[in-house]
Amino acid sequence: MSSSSYARSSTFLYLILAVLIAKSSFCFSAKVYVVYMGSITDQDSDDIVKENHQILASLHSGSIEQAQASHIYSYRHGFRGFAAMLTDEQVSEVSRIWPESPSFRDTDLPPVPPGWKGKCQPGEEFNASSCNRKLIGARYYTSGLQAEEGSGKDVSFKSPRDSIGHGTHTASTAAGRYVENMNFDGLAAGGGRGGAPLARIAVYKTCWESGCYDVDLLAAFDDAIRDGVHIISLSVGGASPQADYFQDAISLASFHAARKGVLVVASAGNEGNPSSATNLAPWIVTVGASSIDREFSSDIVLGNGVNVTGTSLSLLQTNASTTIISGADAFSGDFTPYQSSYCLDSSLNATKAKDKILVCRHVERSTKSKIEKSKIVQKAGGAGLILIDETKAGIAVPFVIPGATVTNKTGEEILSYIKSTSKPTSRIFGAKTVLGTQPAPRAATFSSKGPNTLTPEILKPDITAPGLNILAAWSPVASPGNPKFTIISGTSMSCPHVTGISALVKAVHPSWSPSAIKSAIMTTATILDNHQEPITVDSDGARANAFDYGSGLVNPTKALDPGLVYDSQPEDFVAFLCSLGYDEKSLRLVTRDNSTCDRAFKTPSDLNYPSITVPNLKDNISVTRVVTNVGAATSTYEVEVVPPAGVNVTVVPNRLVFTKVGQKIKFTVKFKVVTPSNDYSFGLLSWKNGKVQVNSPLVVRVAPTSFGSFR
Ligand SMILES: *[C@@H]1O[C@H](CO)[C@@H](O)[C@H](O)[C@H]1NC(C)=O
Ligand SMILES: *[C@@H]1O[C@H](CO)[C@@H](O)[C@H](O)[C@H]1NC(C)=O
Ligand SMILES: *[C@@H]1O[C@H](CO)[C@@H](O)[C@H](O)[C@H]1NC(C)=O
Ligand SMILES: *[C@@H]1O[C@H](CO)[C@@H](O)[C@H](O)[C@H]1NC(C)=O
Ligand SMILES: *[C@@H]1O[C@H](CO)[C@@H](O)[C@H](O)[C@H]1NC(C)=O
Ligand SMILES: *[C@@H]1O[C@H](CO)[C@@H](O)[C@H](O)[C@H]1NC(C)=O
Ligand SMILES: *[C@@H]1O[C@H](CO)[C@@H](O)[C@H](O)[C@H]1NC(C)=O
Ligand SMILES: *[C@@H]1O[C@H](CO)[C@@H](O)[C@H](O)[C@H]1NC(C)=O
Repeated sequence: MSSSSYARSSTFLYLILAVLIAKSSFCFSAKVYVVYMGSITDQDSDDIVKENHQILASLHSGSIEQAQASHIYSYRHGFRGFAAMLTDEQVSEVSRIWPESPSFRDTDLPPVPPGWKGKCQPGEEFNASSCNRKLIGARYYTSGLQAEEGSGKDVSFKSPRDSIGHGTHTASTAAGRYVENMNFDGLAAGGGRGGAPLARIAVYKTCWESGCYDVDLLAAFDDAIRDGVHIISLSVGGASPQADYFQDAISLASFHAARKGVLVVASAGNEGNPSSATNLAPWIVTVGASSIDREFSSDIVLGNGVNVTGTSLSLLQTNASTTIISGADAFSGDFTPYQSSYCLDSSLNATKAKDKILVCRHVERSTKSKIEKSKIVQKAGGAGLILIDETKAGIAVPFVIPGATVTNKTGEEILSYIKSTSKPTSRIFGAKTVLGTQPAPRAATFSSKGPNTLTPEILKPDITAPGLNILAAWSPVASPGNPKFTIISGTSMSCPHVTGISALVKAVHPSWSPSAIKSAIMTTATILDNHQEPITVDSDGARANAFDYGSGLVNPTKALDPGLVYDSQPEDFVAFLCSLGYDEKSLRLVTRDNSTCDRAFKTPSDLNYPSITVPNLKDNISVTRVVTNVGAATSTYEVEVVPPAGVNVTVVPNRLVFTKVGQKIKFTVKFKVVTPSNDYSFGLLSWKNGKVQVNSPLVVRVAPTSFGSFR
């Protein structure tokens, strides 16, 4: 049993849907800064509060009052045990026909477990009786919203009910019940369920149309810990680069969750560039996104008989022999052909665009911006849209007219056909579901990547999971046509896949710590695709690496029986913070107690993490790890190492002999520079016993200064 976020139905506006798809779950906005208080019994708490107010005030253009005003909740529950969290936003339209999602029905579920302390908070369009044996808790938080926007701010669903769809989608992905026929406009039709369909869900709604607020997020974590949740699914994050752990609400709140035995699973972000990953704390499971073996394609037939393929969620199609022109050829007024090649708003001459298919370039990642572009073409009287997606994001888009995205290469092919003939024509067919895509998975281009900007010794993301074009439950009022399911993309979607799998591991191994569950998920992941070849990057086939996918693609079956785990206790995270050079004051901003730096690792690389990263290797370094036997009592593991390029790796001992369950054995991994290089290189360390394989990525960058010492 576990929990995750959820949010029920909601309103219209593709605009909002698009924000969620594109920026994806990243609804975290740092609009309200929160004072994170020291323990009430802590003598220094006043100082800490004052210091925090100063930090906050500097963020609030110097206003202490404003900073103090943002300290709204009392955190007296003190993070005593946590659960699940996700978020939502609201829009103003409300549909009164209100079908509840079949993904959250409670048929055949036993009563709510004793010991559950959560509540079902009534509000707009949401009664205390709206909860059931599946959705066992629902709360909402408006203090941040009100502090920022004023209490008069008109939001629909001042209640736990989902008005946007994001929370419904993520919650049903984590723990939705089986639904016999789910589909979006007939696409992706078939039976489907979340990762842990018997897990319970509690929803803590902290995000609104205008964003998410730290103050609400902290309060939600606080409540969830007290309510008794086991897993928190957080498809929320800030923009990169992430602030230091003691200044970042998610880092702080999740530290206390981890301390209370609650696992926090979070999205890596959708910025896509190197070093863009967020939610970087080692006590969080950070999830990147990858594709699955199903896609939504749209055939485009050119007048010369050549067929090309695009990606789309639009079922609309054009008639045969529709004239096709480049957006540049439809330039209007003061716009240059170059500007019009991007089909910017008002840049198209309606006389030229009328009844034609327009080929438009596009640089933005967001789905919203792509839908907007189809509206611009529609407004200019265009019959269809071929969007050259220069970011090659691969996200399928529900265009409002016949339309498809194509890669640069396909786009150039279409444009050169247009130039080659005086009467270019083409036809766009409606989207269809294509199964058995190979290779799959591929790392999604939008998925935020390592290295970890805050602590390069900790590999992030930790893991990858499906996040491209994912079908799950939706708030019927959140989109035109009131769909009960929809297809969206982002690390918001991959995060709850790992949440669901974590819930399964927790159900089978209820006594395991959050770190043990995380280790089981990481060490059993695969770095091979369905061709048994190394996972590649979406569309261009380049080889992906640990900065794209961490330990690899999550494997739910193997995660239940990992053989060995790399466990960490809360005090190890304190030692980790101390090894970063935290002084006691900063440390206590995180721990909220009297922790000291009596114990620190010699390097943050020594935290007993399921991956090993050495970002600055000078000649040689030894890193230690401890594995705990959670498999057969008597078992022997042999090490196998694929060293990163240019580095010699020696493991001592290279054989581990276990005689009981729970036994711990320490080993040392020695890295020595062989060939200097200035780049990160990637390897693998595996413990094998003939039955299970316990894998850890090795990520090493040789320090530039060590170049001189080698011939
Ligand atoms: C809430 O309860 C009231 C009174 O029983 C009922 O009229 C209303 O339809 C309920 N609303 C929802 C969303 O269930
Ligand atoms: C192109 O696609 C159309 C429609 O699916 C099909 O009828 C036609 O045979 C295809 N042509 C080629 C050359 O594959
Ligand atoms: C295609 O042709 C049919 C019948 O001629 C017409 O009703 C329909 O509107 C046309 N579709 C488009 C997209 O132009
Ligand atoms: C639009 O195109 C038509 C036909 O080429 C032309 O006559 C007209 O001046 C153009 N209008 C603008 C605003 O560019
Ligand atoms: C696509 O082409 C544009 C313009 O030439 C370029 O800036 C962009 O990097 C290309 N994208 C990819 C993925 O190659
Ligand atoms: C911190 O130490 C002080 C002084 O020893 C003690 O009074 C207080 O209870 C301690 N606080 C916590 C949270 O342990
Ligand atoms: C490891 O590096 C240290 C300097 O950092 C050096 O003194 C030592 O000899 C090296 N050991 C090996 C085995 O290369
Ligand atoms: C790697 O180190 C081991 C042990 O020190 C040594 O035997 C081996 O020759 C080294 N390999 C390379 C390629 O340097």
